[in-house]
Amino acid sequence: DNTTPLVIAIDGPAAAGKGTLSRQIAETYGFQHLDTGLTYRAAAKALLDRGLPLNDEGIAEKMARDVELAGLDREILSAHAIGEAASKIAVMPAVRRALVEAQQAFSKRKPGTVLDGRDIGTVVCPDAPVKLYVTASPEVRARRRYDEIVGRGDAANFDEIFADVRKRDERDMGRADSPLKPAKDAHLLDTSEMGIEAAFQAAKAIIDAALKG
Ligand code: DC
Repeated sequence: DNTTPLVIAIDGPAAAGKGTLSRQIAETYGFQHLDTGLTYRAAAKALLDRGLPLNDEGIAEKMARDVELAGLDREILSAHAIGEAASKIAVMPAVRRALVEAQQAFSKRKPGTVLDGRDIGTVVCPDAPVKLYVTASPEVRARRRYDEIVGRGDAANFDEIFADVRKRDERDMGRADSPLKPAKDAHLLDTSEMGIEAAFQAAKAIIDAALKG
């Protein structure tokens, strides 16, 4: 049939809790989920693994074209250095074009999809019937990341993590191609004062209201 599968678009800055929220939402609605940050991370890891430069758009585009959605593994791609490299190659239009094509193909899967990233509501799926822009203050996001690292028994320095969050925001919001910003029709969800469950309930209420139209 020709009914268009439904897309829920979720954008926001690093460490805002989009990942957890998107997984819960996908599970609740029985939709397929794509964390689009993993596609940038996979292309970045391919470059790092081969010792290739992070500033050659042609080479980076080739790695982006070879990314396979089925092979994306959050565990393997979570390293800090991969995230940094991902945000560097994410400024390249040719890399974005390649990955956006794969993301758009994914968004047509049935029965529906949840995509999370930086430009889903603005560029990848501008016609998505539900768009969420999930944020929290830089302090809160740094604190959550700090607690997560310390929680698994590793050492962490809050000031370093905070500086990192700010740097990542600048790069993601400041780039010329598809900068991170809320789509005009996005629902803003600031989770600074919310726990995971409260954020999920708030997101679900927005989605249910939007789907009822
Ligand atoms: O969400 P994340 O930390 O896994 O994303 C890593 C980098 O990938 C992020 O700093 C910017 C880039 N990215 C992007 O430009 N567009 C997306 N839709 C998702 C991620």
